[in-house]
Amino acid sequence: MTTMRITGGLGLLVGIGLAAGPALALEGDPSRGESVAGTCVACHQADGMGMNMPQGESWPRLAGLPADYIAKQLHDFQAGRRENATMMPFAKMLDDQQIADVAAYYAGLASWPELPTAYSAASPDQPGEWLAERGDWDKTLPACSQCHGPNGQGVGADFPPIAGQHAGYLSAQLRAWRNGDRHNDPDGLMRGIAERLDDDQIDLIADYYATLPERLEATSASAAEEEGGQ
Ligand code: HEC
Ligand code: HEC
Repeated sequence: MTTMRITGGLGLLVGIGLAAGPALALEGDPSRGESVAGTCVACHQADGMGMNMPQGESWPRLAGLPADYIAKQLHDFQAGRRENATMMPFAKMLDDQQIADVAAYYAGLASWPELPTAYSAASPDQPGEWLAERGDWDKTLPACSQCHGPNGQGVGADFPPIAGQHAGYLSAQLRAWRNGDRHNDPDGLMRGIAERLDDDQIDLIADYYATLPERLEATSASAAEEEGGQ
């Protein structure tokens, strides 16, 4: 009896969820998602790490992105809120349950690099770091870290991690917002940012976040060495 009532309630919730769009996400099953991902590996790779292609279209890393974020992006590609000729046909092949499943699968793959969350003072001599941590107030541009967290690690499901994502992909997204091909950000938050970035700043910030995990690792390794040497 109780079970029936719960199932009935769930059915109702799912009904509302479908009517209201992807806001109320379905429960994803990672093992079913693994078979859905069979069509994705050609580009996003078997480990979900994607690939940077300096001369072409980069394939983003999906491994360790929040499931709800992945699901939202797939619904956005289906609905045309996010336009990309390569990705849209693959999103359109999926139903809502497959989206939930494949999102759960990629979210569970070896996760995004864990970076220090402590605030560190940005150096004005490092323009990429300055932009990421302090913004550009001449252009009323807030710091990326205000939304994407310290070291671009991401905050919750709404603000994706960007540190360790491929540079070619990061710069493509900033340009897509600037020219309106990507218009799926809540309240136009990212469009407002991208519109104020010039081309040099886009390349600079993409390279900064793409290489941040390795650079932080190198700094902490050399600091440990110095300590050990004393
Ligand atoms: C032919 C190559 C290709 C295939 C196959 C492919 N993708 Fe993609 N995917 C891309 C490209 C390119 C982008 C970046 C699109 C853009 O610039 O907006 C992307 C973007 C994405 C994103 C957005 C990531 C983010 O950080 O916002 C998700 C999620 C995604 N793909 C999931 C999938 C899934 C799931 C499948 C399989 C069902 C799949 N893709 C198949 C090329 C591909
Ligand atoms: C006011 C909040 C805010 C600020 C500040 C901000 N972002 Fe974002 N950003 C977002 C949101 C929200 C999204 C997710 C949009 C969506 O749902 O597709 C996002 C997504 C992104 C993505 C796409 C990631 C992916 O996986 O596709 C990139 C790249 C990005 N931001 C870069 C930046 C950079 C670089 C800066 C600083 C110059 C910055 N953001 C500052 C809110 C912000």
